[in-house]
Amino acid sequence: MLAFEVLRAVDERDAYANLVLPPLLRKAREKEGFEARDAALATELVYGTLRRQGTYDAIIAACVDRPLREVDPPVLDVLSLGAHQLLGTRIPPHAAVSATVELARAVLGEGRAKFVNAVLRKITRQDLDAWLAEVAPPYEKDAEDHLAVMHSHPRWVVSALWDALGGGRAGIEALLAADNERPEVTLVARPGRIGVEELAGAAETEPGRWSPYALRLAEGGEPGAIESVRDGRAGVQDEGSQLVAIALANVPLEGPDTRWLDGCAGPGGKAALLGALAAGRGAALLASEKQPHRARLVERALAGNPGPYQVIAADGTRPPWREGSFDRVLVDVPCSGLGALRRRPEARWRRRPEDLDGFGPLQRGLLTEALKAVRVGGVVGYATCSPHLAETRVVVDDVLKKHGGGELVDARPYFPGVDALGDGPDVQLWPHLHGTDAMYLALIRRTA
Ligand SMILES: C[S@@+](CC[C@H](N)C(=O)[O-])C[C@H]1O[C@@H](n2cnc3c(N)ncnc32)[C@H](O)[C@@H]1O
Repeated sequence: MLAFEVLRAVDERDAYANLVLPPLLRKAREKEGFEARDAALATELVYGTLRRQGTYDAIIAACVDRPLREVDPPVLDVLSLGAHQLLGTRIPPHAAVSATVELARAVLGEGRAKFVNAVLRKITRQDLDAWLAEVAPPYEKDAEDHLAVMHSHPRWVVSALWDALGGGRAGIEALLAADNERPEVTLVARPGRIGVEELAGAAETEPGRWSPYALRLAEGGEPGAIESVRDGRAGVQDEGSQLVAIALANVPLEGPDTRWLDGCAGPGGKAALLGALAAGRGAALLASEKQPHRARLVERALAGNPGPYQVIAADGTRPPWREGSFDRVLVDVPCSGLGALRRRPEARWRRRPEDLDGFGPLQRGLLTEALKAVRVGGVVGYATCSPHLAETRVVVDDVLKKHGGGELVDARPYFPGVDALGDGPDVQLWPHLHGTDAMYLALIRRTA
């Protein structure tokens, strides 16, 4: 029931599952005596069903005698939940069918529950592999459609990710599979505020893969239970985001290095790490964010920073600062988020290719202003959590061509120890290769 409520909210109100689910789980714990096991199952049902929706839609379509768009959305949600229990979990088939039909009776009524029962019985006919062999078009006939059904991504997303990744079938399959895995929770020990060893003593963790400040929380670990996370000395932050901030901080500069800017700072993860790194160098950070409510989150993330900082709400395309005011500038621009599909199970279905038309001008505007904000000899880091070429290389190339005055710096040496970084000079991280979100970073030195 709880999982169904979340799916309906995602469908009807464009809600985010990761925001809707926790309060419902809390309520269920308080009122219905939900135990940790029940909460884990509900979470798995919600996330698994949303992630695998493309695959389940194809299978359900093969089991009903009308087009899926003619099936009422609540009925489709119940069917998808049933399909996930049958094909994506170890719940015994009879239990999965009877629990789903009982749910259908409660939320859809007796007549539609019979329909649900009939469809689920057809699904039980074979296992997931057999269904995929039946409903996915052959790879040789249409590789992108095949991968879209097999790995439950919209076809245009498969296409965009493959363009950015390059290479053959094995790589893109590994990437799409990684998008369907639950990401680990990674912590950051903010330097100058808490050491990694001290943070490691506070919870069961493993060392990070790449970042010297990262720790990976053991399965089931609760970051909110760790005091240093609650008081901001540490935080939850994907290692890809940590690496981007560290790389920008470590590019060598000639001349002064005391004024750092984060031009798109909300909610403040990278700003908090940059602020801590700046403090260690005697530099000050200005963290700027357009949305006032997000600027307040940045304020909270930076509170207690060991060095000087300021947070302002400002539009980075019409900035209040003077040209050439900063030595290092980060612009982690708004983007489609196609590099963080592991975290937002519904995002891949919600995004449209047209969204990129909206982001493009903003990304160019923010990078153009960032290049003006940095002094000659200073460095801009242009970052996205999308690997889509239209949001990464194409933006950087366009802006450099149009405005001149900047040159790409090879970013790879500032990701020490990280392998599979490609040909440079920019860096694209990947979930299947690095275990991080697909963060992108181009480092640009202002030359004139
Ligand atoms: C990808 S997020 C940044 C994430 C952040 N760096 C972090 O690590 O927590 C992009 C941010 O840019 C902000 N933004 C959007 N348009 C902006 C603009 N014109 N000027 C400044 N910030 C803007 C968004 O509100 C959003 O908070």
